[in-house]
Amino acid sequence: MKARRCAVLWLEPREVAHFELDDLLGGGTGVVNQVHWFAHAPHLSEPVAIDAQQAMVAGALGATAWVDFDALEQAHGAACIAALVALGLIVCDDAQHASNHHADTRFRDVQWYGLSSVSHAASRWAGIDAAAEVQEAGLYSPLGLRNAYGVPPPTFLDRGASEDRIVLERAAYTGFDDLLDLRSTCRNFDTTRALPRAQFANVLERVFGARGQVQAADDFEVIKRTSPSGGAMHPTEAYLIVQNVEGLAPGLYHYRPGDHALQPLPPVDDLAKLAFYAVGGQQWFADAHVLVALAPRFERNFWKYRNHPKAYRVTILDIGHLSQTLFLSAIELGLGAYITAAINEVDLEQAFGLTHFVEGPLAVCGFGIRSDEMVTSEFDPNRKAWPRKSPPAE
Ligand SMILES: Cc1cc2nc3c(=O)[nH]c(=O)nc-3n(C[C@H](O)[C@H](O)[C@H](O)COP(=O)(O)O)c2cc1C
Repeated sequence: MKARRCAVLWLEPREVAHFELDDLLGGGTGVVNQVHWFAHAPHLSEPVAIDAQQAMVAGALGATAWVDFDALEQAHGAACIAALVALGLIVCDDAQHASNHHADTRFRDVQWYGLSSVSHAASRWAGIDAAAEVQEAGLYSPLGLRNAYGVPPPTFLDRGASEDRIVLERAAYTGFDDLLDLRSTCRNFDTTRALPRAQFANVLERVFGARGQVQAADDFEVIKRTSPSGGAMHPTEAYLIVQNVEGLAPGLYHYRPGDHALQPLPPVDDLAKLAFYAVGGQQWFADAHVLVALAPRFERNFWKYRNHPKAYRVTILDIGHLSQTLFLSAIELGLGAYITAAINEVDLEQAFGLTHFVEGPLAVCGFGIRSDEMVTSEFDPNRKAWPRKSPPAE
C-alpha cells in the first residue's frame, strides 16, 4: 500500500478554554486556556483536532510523491500513522480508504489556491442562529454596537487640506437615479400574498439568464450575463428555495441560465426551517418569497485561474455584482430584495447536494413582495422605500 499527505494542510495552534477545578480552588476563575493543534484539510468537511506528535508527523510528510506505507509506520510509529489515516490527513491508495482518497483527488482536480481553500472551508457555518446570538450580545442596534465597541472609524476619510479640494458638478437626476435611490435592503416581506410567476421569472432572467452565447471552441461556451464575471467564466449557480410563487410548488430548484428553466430538486422535510437556517436565523429574510443561494462552481473559474491567489476573490466579487443586479431587477418591478453572507453553508450544501470545495454557497439573496407594515427596521433615511403604512415605534 502507498500513502501520501492530503493536498492541502494548515496546522492551527488554537487556544481552547477549559474548566479546571484546581484553578478555581487556587483562587482563579476556573477557566484555563490551553493550546491545541487543529488540522485544516479542506477536502474534509471540518477541521480536526490532533496532538503535537501527529502535527509534527503530518507536517513532515509530502503531498506529492506516494511512499511505502510500511516505511511510514516504521519511521513515525504505527499508532500515529493510523490516527492520521483515520482522520483523512494521510491518504492511502487501497480500497479500504477509498472515500478520503477520492475526496482528496477531487479536491486536487478543482485547482484551489491552498490558503483560499482553507479559508473557504473553515468559514462555513452549520445550524447557527446568528440573529439570536447578535440579539443576546446586545449588538443588534447601532447604539448597542457603539456602546460595546466605542466610536467607529470616521464615516468620511480626510486625505489633505480642505482648501485643495475640487468640488464636482452634480448631474440632473434621471430615471436611473430614481431606480438607484430606491435600492434598499428589504426586511419586511408580505407572507400573505404569492409572488406572481411572471415577476419571479423576470428577476431570474435578468440576473442569472444567459443573454448571449459565444462558442469559444467546439466544446467551450462563454455566456453573457447582465453582471460581469472574472475571466467571463460565470461560475455562479442559482439554487432556489421557492416558498410562495404563483403556479410553482414550494421546494428546491436549480435555475438553468441557458434555457431559462427550473430543474426541480429532491425535497427537504421542512422548507421553512431550511429558509430560516439559510439566512442564519434572520426570520425577516427567511420570509422572502424566494431565496437564492449563490454558489460558484469553483472548478469552472479555477479551470482558467489554476491554483491562483486571486481566483477565490474573483468568485466572491462575482456574487457582489449578481446581488446588485438582483436588487435593481427586483426593485424595478416594485419588489423587495436583500443579500446576506450570514448563511449556514453546510445546511445549504446538504439540502442541495453540494460538495463545499467543488461548488459552495457564498451568499443568499432573497426577493418578493414588500409588506405594507415595517416590523423589522430598514435603512431608508430618504423615505424612498417607506412609508408604506407606518414605520415601527423605535
Ligand atoms: C454582503 C452583505 C451582507 C449583509 N448581511 C446582512 C445580514 O446578515 N442581515 C441584515 O439584516 N442585513 C444584511 N446586509 C444588509 C446591510 O445591513 C445593508 O446593506 C445596510 O444596512 C445598508 O442598508 P441598505 O442596503 O438598505 O442601503 C448585508 C449586506 C451585504 C452587502
